[in-house]
Amino acid sequence: MNNGIPNHVAIIMDGNGRWATRQGKKRTEGHYAGYKRLKQTALYILDKGVKYLSVFAFSTENFKRSEEEVNYLMDLFVSAFKSDINFFIKNNVKVLFSGRSKPLSQKVLDVMDTLEKKTKDCTGGTFNVCLNYGGQAEIVDACKKVAKEYKENNLDLDSIDMNNFYKYLYNDLPPVDLMIRTSGELRISNFMLYSIAYSELYFTETCFPDFDEKEFDKALESYQNRNITKGGLKK
Ligand code: FPP
Repeated sequence: MNNGIPNHVAIIMDGNGRWATRQGKKRTEGHYAGYKRLKQTALYILDKGVKYLSVFAFSTENFKRSEEEVNYLMDLFVSAFKSDINFFIKNNVKVLFSGRSKPLSQKVLDVMDTLEKKTKDCTGGTFNVCLNYGGQAEIVDACKKVAKEYKENNLDLDSIDMNNFYKYLYNDLPPVDLMIRTSGELRISNFMLYSIAYSELYFTETCFPDFDEKEFDKALESYQNRNITKGGLKK
């Protein structure tokens, strides 16, 4: 069985905190290590021919973590998205963000906006960063967009179907083919609920800061050896 290269890969980047604690480090150091790993592994995945890579950087629930951790992550997003603009342009990667804007600070929203604008013409793969993201919220927000558009234009609701519903999600991306979760948890945790309907799932004990090229190759091999029957949703 060879299913080739998945078109869209999604990763729940879990285990930064445990990775750090096991080494006597602060949880925030785990997030920094996760960020460094992400840059390296993301490029590798896109270089393999994966066209879309979505990552769970911060969930709507993550705001309940300690103030120190939330502030650290927000500052990391600001500094990383600022300093990595040229990295993405040089590697021809288009960056998109998925999630709600409230209650993100204007500083975070501004760097996200700049990065999206500066990379909008890049063609070497799409990197979708899910930040302040929740899968149920995404579906609810999509329904609100549909309701507004259809009401304003007096359209027939029967024209909505499972394929064209994608365009009302935060970004109109193809369905996820392979969903990976690191660090041994066997849950979906509200990630990309609509788009993973027919996704293959891959779970590994490896914590995200250790999820390197070899680890991705193992996930890919597992995917390529599966007997996949796709549902009839758009590609
Ligand atoms: C979950 O692991 C991870 C997060 C909440 C944050 C993920 C963020 C990164 C990998 C950095 C991304 C950086 C950019 C710039 C996009 P956890 O800390 O909850 O792990 P634990 O379950 O072991 O505590």
